[in-house]
Formats: sequence, C-alpha cells, structure tokens
Amino acid sequence: MTISRRRFLSNLGWVGAPLVVRSGFGMVWRAQARSAARVSLDLERRRAVMDRRLLGAFLEHLGRAVYGGVYEPGSRLADSNGFRKDVMAEIRELGVPIMRYPGGNFVSGYHWLDGVGPKEKRPTVLDRAWNSIETNQFGTNEFIQWCRLVGTEPLLAVNLGSGTPEEAAALVEYCNVDKGTRWSELRRQHGFPEPHNVRYWCLGNEMDGPWQIGHMTAREYGRKAADAARQMRVLDRNLQLIACGSSSPSMPTWLVWDREVLEECYDVVDAISLHRYFSNAAGDSRRFVALNLSMERQILEVIAVCDYVRGLRRTRKRLWLSFDEWNVWYRERSGDGKRQFAPRLLEEIYNLEDALLVGGCLNTLLRQAERVRVACLAQIVNVIAPLVTNESGVLRQTIYYPYAWALKHARGAVLEPLIECETYEAAEAGTAPYVDIAATWDESARQAALFILNRDLDAERELRLEWRTAPARVLGCETLTGPDLKAVNTFEQPKRVVPQPWEAPAPGALMVLRLPPRSYTLLRLGFA
Ligand code: AHR
Repeated sequence: MTISRRRFLSNLGWVGAPLVVRSGFGMVWRAQARSAARVSLDLERRRAVMDRRLLGAFLEHLGRAVYGGVYEPGSRLADSNGFRKDVMAEIRELGVPIMRYPGGNFVSGYHWLDGVGPKEKRPTVLDRAWNSIETNQFGTNEFIQWCRLVGTEPLLAVNLGSGTPEEAAALVEYCNVDKGTRWSELRRQHGFPEPHNVRYWCLGNEMDGPWQIGHMTAREYGRKAADAARQMRVLDRNLQLIACGSSSPSMPTWLVWDREVLEECYDVVDAISLHRYFSNAAGDSRRFVALNLSMERQILEVIAVCDYVRGLRRTRKRLWLSFDEWNVWYRERSGDGKRQFAPRLLEEIYNLEDALLVGGCLNTLLRQAERVRVACLAQIVNVIAPLVTNESGVLRQTIYYPYAWALKHARGAVLEPLIECETYEAAEAGTAPYVDIAATWDESARQAALFILNRDLDAERELRLEWRTAPARVLGCETLTGPDLKAVNTFEQPKRVVPQPWEAPAPGALMVLRLPPRSYTLLRLGFA
C-alpha cells in the first residue's frame, strides 16, 4: 500500500516534500493515513473582502424556470402579478444578492421589445435556443418588478447573437434613462415612470459555442462587444460590463478565445465571464467531490489571461471575473423543448454528493473573491436548480443547503487559513486535500464562519483548528451528510438530505472538530 502525504498550504500551493510511506501492514498505515488536518487561522490574515454578488443566481427563459417557476398566473399560489408567492418567499429568505436574466442561450435569439408593453399585444414566438414556445408574458419589466419584490439586484444579459449593439443600447436606454428619449419614453408609457437603473450587464452569452445563436470568432465577438459597450456607456456611464469569456475549459479555444476577445475590448469592459458545469457521469465520486479544485484552476488561468492582456495594453485597469454560470449538470442534458410551452427541461435531481461539490465550489469562489466579484449558481428554480416547484409547493433540493449557508453566513473578509492535510490523487482535479476549508470574518458582528468539506467518503476526519485569537463562543455547528451519496430529496420525502446539528468543540485557541465522512460542515464562532 502506498500513501502519499503532503503539506497543503492555503489551497494555493504545496510546501514541503511529499512523504511516501510503504507498508505491508495495511490497517496500521491506514490508521496513520487518516491523520488530523491542521488549520491555523488568524483574523488579521485576509485574502479579500467579498462582494455579496459572489453568491448570485440565474433565471433563464428555459423549461419551467420562468413559466411554472416564478410566474404562474392562475395558480392558487400566485399573487396579483402572477408571481408564485411560495417561490418568492424562498428566494427572499435565501437573500440572493443578484439574479442574471434572461439567459443563457435563450438571450442570443431574444428581442427584448417582444417582452414589454401590453401583455395582450406581445407575440408568441418560437425560442430557437430550446425549441420551445415563448409567450413573452414575462419580460424585462416583470423581471425587474419581481427582483424588487424578492430583494435581489438584476443582472441583465443583452442579445449579441441575433441582436445588434444598437438593440442592446436601446435596452439600456429603456431601462436606465429617466425620460425625454425614444426608449425611455416607451418605458414610461408602459407604466414605469422611474428608471430601473440596472448596473450590471452581460454582453451576450457563450459566444464561443457552436450551439449559440450567432456564434462567431473571438475577434468578431470582441469587436461586437466593444461596439455594444461603447454605445451602452453613452446611455449610462455607471454600467459594469461583462464580456463573454470561454464557456468551459473543455472548449478547443479555451484561453485563446479569452485573450483575443480581450485584445479587442479590454478598455471598454469591466469583467470577463466564466462558466462551468460538473459531471459525475464516470461514477467516480472521489474525483467528483474534488472538482472544485479544477474550478479554482480555471479561475487562476483566466486571471492570468486578463493580466497578460493588461500588460500588453500597458494599462493600470484590472478586470474582475464574473463566474455567471456554475453548478452540477450532467443527467438531464436534452435541450429540445419539442415546441412545447414550459416543457420539463434540464430538471436535474440533486443528491448528497452533488451538494458536497456545490459546497466545495462555494469554498473556491470565496477563496477567489479578490478577483471574482460576481458569480451565479445556475439556475434558481426548476432548471438545474436548488428549488423545484409543483402545483402545491416548493421543494428544497440537496444543493439548496450549502448555498443557503453561504448566503446567510459568509460575510465580510475571506480569511487565509494555513492548512496541513493529507491528500489523494483525484484525476483531472489534481492532488486533493481531504479537507477543504473556506473561512469568513465579519468584523462588525465579530463573527467567523467556517465552511468545511470532508472529501473522505469512508471515514471521519479530525480537524484541529489553531486560532491566533481564541473565539469566545460557538454560535452553531451543523453538518450535511448521510450514509448514501446518492440520496435525494423528493416532494414525498423532502428531508432525506438536510443539515443536522453537529457536536462542536469548546471555544478556545485549539479546537478539535470531528468531521463526519462525506460531509459539508458549517461552524460559526463569536469573538470578544
Ligand atoms: O444554464 C443552462 C445553459 O447552459 C445556458 O443557457 C447556457 O449559457 C449554458 O450552456
């Protein structure tokens, strides 16, 4: 048996030489292999101050996300606008800071004018992205109204596929100009005297993908995005504009696309997008629960490209990253709506191991918060989502829980823990520490939150927390775990995978926590 043990520092790099232990006495060495993980924490050692928009979500005109998800006039659960009250209550309770809309692939064939004005005059069209019927009964104004009701900020995407930069600029004028111009007056006629003041905008969606309506080369897209950005900024100088980066590291144009796009539009955009969906189609759960490390690498590679182009341009301006689609998605891949209205598409059912990886991805995003300012769990309801509706209510899927924890408790500064932990080889995810940690520190409340993934699928792990300043109180400790990695929540059994209280150590400079196997744990601490 061969066990490799290394020192893992801050999830960023390795220090120390690998220690390789060989033995014929499997059990003895096995016990040693499961040695404690050590984490040293100092409230003064900080990686970044997080932007809450890091914990956003996404609502696309796709399947039952809008129609039957957030909007269902006629349902006994809908309000007078037709918005599902139960779904609004869930999203309000989650406290989602920003919501991307209306796509996704959908946006690349969408004409926003179809979705505004009197509802009876709006056309029913064929959405060619998902081969579905789009009635346009829910459009920009309904989305903004809904955002205000659930307390989230809109992040609008413009159509740079079949649409033109002129149409994109017209939408900014419609949303953000007060009055006295063609499109601002149209908004006022439509019953919205106040501008919507939408600040964050995506310049198209996944334009590197051959599946995308209007797919083009990086140079073509970069020029089109620059043209759109210049026109949009005339309407509103305060916009934050996000260019389309590579839609996945698996694309043949990975990074080359990002470089070429930025060479064309660096000076007029603020950020570049990243997308990622994870799969366990291979059925290798050890590898799967480490895939957030490849997300981390993806982020670092895109930062490198941004800063390379920055160097070429000899500019002080530094771009930030928008990870505006991420999740587990591999089972329900068919995107053919067969010309139906609100068909059941991409209704992925999430299990415990998916929730563990989602927890890991949240840890990665928190660790990379210095450059990743916006990120969107894709999506929010029914379509690859933490929430699922039926005619009588809403179900919280397994992935809801790590997301809800981050939304509720990740605040303030992201700390830089120093971690010493045993590792294993996890295919393309690389060498993975068994224990993955992110920690935040809310100075005003004097509270810290630790988000801890135990990737050991078979055994408990001991975690030794060494604090430079000892916490005064344990505010709470909960864990998401269970005997079956494939367990799911259903409307019949909604509580199969839910957090449970977990025994916390007494507060102090050294705290020893037992992490259950295959678990994601939240530990909250108060400081004097
Ligand atoms: O979120 C589902 C789809 O995944 C989005 O429409 C697209 O941008 C991505 O490929």
